[in-house]
Amino acid sequence: MRGHALFEQVPDRVSIFEVSPRDGLQNEAAMVPIEGKKRLVEALVAAGLRRVEITSFVSPKWVPQLGDAEDLAAALVPPEGVTYSALCPNARGLDRALAVGLREIAVFMSASETHNRMNVNKSIADTLRVFEEIVPPAREAGIAVRAYVSTVWGCPYEGAVDPAGALAIAQRLVALGCYQVSLGDTIGVGTPGQTAEIVRRFRDAMPVEQIALHLHDTRGTALANLLVGLELGVRDFDASVSGVGGCPYAPGAAGNVATEDLVYMLHGLGIETGIDLDKLIEAGNVAEQVIGRPLPGKVHRAGPLRVRKPKG
Ligand code: HMG
Ligand code: MG
Repeated sequence: MRGHALFEQVPDRVSIFEVSPRDGLQNEAAMVPIEGKKRLVEALVAAGLRRVEITSFVSPKWVPQLGDAEDLAAALVPPEGVTYSALCPNARGLDRALAVGLREIAVFMSASETHNRMNVNKSIADTLRVFEEIVPPAREAGIAVRAYVSTVWGCPYEGAVDPAGALAIAQRLVALGCYQVSLGDTIGVGTPGQTAEIVRRFRDAMPVEQIALHLHDTRGTALANLLVGLELGVRDFDASVSGVGGCPYAPGAAGNVATEDLVYMLHGLGIETGIDLDKLIEAGNVAEQVIGRPLPGKVHRAGPLRVRKPKG
C-alpha cells in the first residue's frame, strides 16, 4: 500500500480473472473451433494472465457455443502457476469437470428470481439446494469453487434488485465453501454511487478478499465502477479481452470490461497486474481473428500511446 494523488491508498498489485473464453464466446454467434479457443487461451496466458475461465459444463442445448467443453479442457494443460476454471451448474457439470481433471469450478446464480429462472430454469431456493449438493463434494475432491451472483446492479426482467438479498445469497455460497463471490453487473447498468453502496454493504459483512467484481460494460460505466471498488478495497476484478461477450440470457448486455482497458488504467495508477500490455493486445488480436468480427475494447482499438511526427 502507498499514498497516491487520487486515492488515500492504492494496492501494489491486483488480480485479474480472465473470462473471455467463457463469458465472451458463449455470446458470440460464431461457433469458434477448438483450435481457435486453444490459441486464445494460450495467448492470454502468454500475456501473463494466471486465472482463466476457459469454458462451461452447462447443457449444450442451452449454450451450444461451449458444447466442446471436455475436448477443450483436455487439450489445455495449465502451465505452473496458472489455473483454468469453468462454470458448473449442477452435479452433471461437476462430474464432467472432475472427469477432465479441472482444479477449479465456478457455480453461478442470480440475485433476481426471473433472471435466475431464465438462466438456469430454477428458483433461487432450488438453485441453492443444487449447490448444497455439489460445492461440499467438490471441495472434498480438492477442487476450488468460485461463485457468481448475477444481476446485483439490476435485472433485465425485474429492474431494481435488493442488495440485501444478493448479500444473503453470497454469504450462503461462502458458507458452502466457495472461496470468492464475484458480483455481477450482468447488464452493465451500474453507476459509481450505486457501486459504492453495494461494495460497502458487502465489505462490511464479509472479508474483502472474498469479493470480486464482474462488470459488463454496456453503458461505459464499468471502469468507473471498478475504480470505486478499488478505492473501497476490492483487489479481484473479472475482465474479458477486447470486451468480447455478454450473457445469452440477458438481452442486450455487452461484454465485460475489456482486459486491456483495465490493465491500462491499473498500470497508469502504478498497480502491478503481472500482465504485459503489448502481449495482451496481441491476445486481443487473436480473439478478433478467431471470432471473425471487430471487437469493441478501447485500448484494443487505439493501442498504447503512439508518438507521431507532426505533419508539415
Ligand atoms: P434444465 O433443462 O432445467 O435441466 O436445464 P435438466 O436437469 O432438466 O436437464 C435437461 C437436459 O440437459 C438433459 O438432457 C440433461 O442431461 C442435460 P436430455 O435428457 O434433454 O438430453 N443437462 C446437462 N448436459 C450437460 N451438462 C450439464 C447438464 N445439466 C443438464 N451440466 C441447466 C438446467 C442448468 C442445465 C440449464 O439451464 C443450463 O445449462 N443453463 C446454463 C445457462 C448458461 O450457461 N448461461 C450463461 C452463463 S451465466 C452468465 O453468463 C452470468 C455470469 O457471467 C455473471 C454475470 O455476468 O452476472 C456468470
Ligand atoms: Mg458475465
